[in-house]
Amino acid sequence: MSKVISAHAVSVDGYITGREPGAGRGLGDGTMLFDWYFDGDTRSQVFDGFKLSGPSARLFDALAGRVGALVAGRNTYEDSDHFGGGGPHPTARPFILSHRPAPEMTERQTLVTTGIEDAVAAAREAAGGRDVFLMGGGVVTAALKAGLVDEVVLHQVPVLLGGGRPFFQALPEHVRLRLIEAVPAPGVTHLHYAIER
Ligand SMILES: NC(=O)c1ccc[n+]([C@@H]2O[C@H](COP(=O)([O-])OP(=O)(O)OC[C@H]3O[C@@H](n4cnc5c(N)ncnc54)[C@H](OP(=O)(O)O)[C@@H]3O)[C@@H](O)[C@H]2O)c1
Repeated sequence: MSKVISAHAVSVDGYITGREPGAGRGLGDGTMLFDWYFDGDTRSQVFDGFKLSGPSARLFDALAGRVGALVAGRNTYEDSDHFGGGGPHPTARPFILSHRPAPEMTERQTLVTTGIEDAVAAAREAAGGRDVFLMGGGVVTAALKAGLVDEVVLHQVPVLLGGGRPFFQALPEHVRLRLIEAVPAPGVTHLHYAIER
């Protein structure tokens, strides 16, 4: 059974962007969240141009290799300049969750306006047995509320950004996590959790 997983680069105070992210501005003043993608000596086997430290490359490529399809929130899609008409992963089909039309979308992208359950179901079907990745704090929170998330990964970067978009938004009740793996690496600590049900 394929899993639903969310992995984000996040500050120690819980932000996945800095202040003022947006189209043409990326993560705003939080671009250091992605420094560990490029400041190592080990090439990613999945993402062209990524050079990570050895421990980060092992974990990152293992996760990236699991992805069959992804669900991204509308903010992620907009702030990433519509993924250039493709997707944020080299092979995974992107499903964009929104309440609004998106006439500029290409045939490589799918808009879902009927909720998180439908978006995850469509992505699961497209994933062909591989995993579904969630991108964006709003989408992750919607999926947690719906009980759809199996695992979360915090690529925790040692900075307090002080503001930005949070990884996790308000939830109606506690969600218990079980640590699968903690990997310290240069410039980032990878914390991989399973959701307890
Ligand atoms: N640090 C990292 O690793 C990382 C990874 C991914 C993204 N990001 C960044 O995170 C930021 C986006 O995160 P975010 O939390 O602001 O937003 P998000 O989750 O990307 O998008 C939120 C939007 O998704 C739509 N949405 C969410 N739940 C929905 C539901 N149940 N039904 C229908 N539509 C729903 C809504 O769009 P509408 O308003 O159109 O209805 C909502 O405003 C971006 O700047 C992105 O670049 C960072």
